[in-house]
Amino acid sequence: MDRIRIRGGNRLTGTIPISGAKNAALPLMIVSLLTPGTLTLSNVPRLADVRLLQRILQNHGIDITVAGKRVGQHPMMGDVMHLSAKDIVDTTAPYDLVSKMRASFWVLGPLLARCGEAKVSLPGGCAIGTRPVDMHLMAMEKLGADIAIENGYVLASAKKGLKGAHIVFDKVSVGATHAALMAAVLADGDTIIENAASEPEIGDVAECLVKMGAKIEGIHTATLKVKGVTSLRGCEHSVIPDRIETGTYAMCVGMTGGDVLLKDANASHLGAVIDVMQRAGVSVEIKNDGIRIHRNGAALEPVRVDTEPFPGFPTDCQAQLMAMMTMASGTSIIRETIFENRFMHVQELARLGSDIHLHGDTAEVRGVKKLTGAPVMATDLRASVSLVIAGLAAEGETMINRVYHLDRGFETLEDKLQACGADVSRISG
Ligand code: UD1
Repeated sequence: MDRIRIRGGNRLTGTIPISGAKNAALPLMIVSLLTPGTLTLSNVPRLADVRLLQRILQNHGIDITVAGKRVGQHPMMGDVMHLSAKDIVDTTAPYDLVSKMRASFWVLGPLLARCGEAKVSLPGGCAIGTRPVDMHLMAMEKLGADIAIENGYVLASAKKGLKGAHIVFDKVSVGATHAALMAAVLADGDTIIENAASEPEIGDVAECLVKMGAKIEGIHTATLKVKGVTSLRGCEHSVIPDRIETGTYAMCVGMTGGDVLLKDANASHLGAVIDVMQRAGVSVEIKNDGIRIHRNGAALEPVRVDTEPFPGFPTDCQAQLMAMMTMASGTSIIRETIFENRFMHVQELARLGSDIHLHGDTAEVRGVKKLTGAPVMATDLRASVSLVIAGLAAEGETMINRVYHLDRGFETLEDKLQACGADVSRISG
């Protein structure tokens, strides 16, 4: 199993190209189930989760080809992927695949909408809380599907097709909004989705659906209005830049000090993160070609932050912010409001010498003068990258085990950091 070795203490200087967003690429790939035409996605990040979803979609009969970079493109430019679901040969998403990645459950809505039936394994437990799918199922039932749960599978059918409906979510869910939207575009009649998640990745999917012929109003807002159409066509679409990867590298620079351009980052997706960075004393400059992050020797200021649905501070940057605040000049208060049990990084950060106290959903992060390197264990995607951030500033060597979590969501992390002067290497085996 690969490990990442970091020798801390180097400032970061240079340019980091930001990849396409994992959380947009995955639902965009799933959208291909909705049309017999070819969906061509560009700027697709090269990640383990993308490769796993390819396998899941191929199981349903989708023909997928992937081309690498074109002559003249930036070396980090993502893949171009062609997905063609001319015939859906299997409407079952089996346990052994769905259990590896929760987002694969999202095939439920498109399969129902296109084929009138789907059998999808429940995603099962997860390292960051129970993460139920009740809201997904409620949305499908509202759209007229019959739902049963048998032997760990959701059996859904809508033999006469889905019907437009009024769906009101009682809490904001990214996945349930994707599911409702992907099903409603092919339903008969009008659908209103209230209290929809307005994360940029949902807007990206909605914009792609519109290119395919869907009729959607209210994109990027909490109320989506959909007029169902009878069929969708293929289109070309480029995946938006990854705002979580952007926030993560911004925090790497905040931690080590230095001066880095996060190339192609989209500042309009990062308002809350930029605000927190500035409150912590990190300089953030919005440029035409990305975001420049800059910090000189001055100590980081402590911050008080709650995670919230977009446009609030993202839960997917909570662990990284906590790592950065371990060396602030006072006590930070970080409250996790989206997921229960999303503090597994705290124990590992403690191994590097941090001083963090948990009180229910709130972490009290008392800044320390120095961290020292140690062997640590990656526990989930965002938690593991928080250990990278801490390791970049820790004295001596930090060895991160179980880095397959990192490979799920960060494309060529060690190359991007090395290019800016970090002493980071992957040890295979
Ligand atoms: C997506 C993101 C994940 C991010 C999360 C919150 C992808 C692939 N994943 O996950 O990186 O951390 O949004 O921004 O895009 N909930 C229910 N019932 C449901 C569905 C969700 O109670 O049917 C709860 C969850 O347990 C959680 C909250 O709603 O407490 C938000 O979860 P949700 O937005 O659905 O997260 P995901 O879509 O799984």
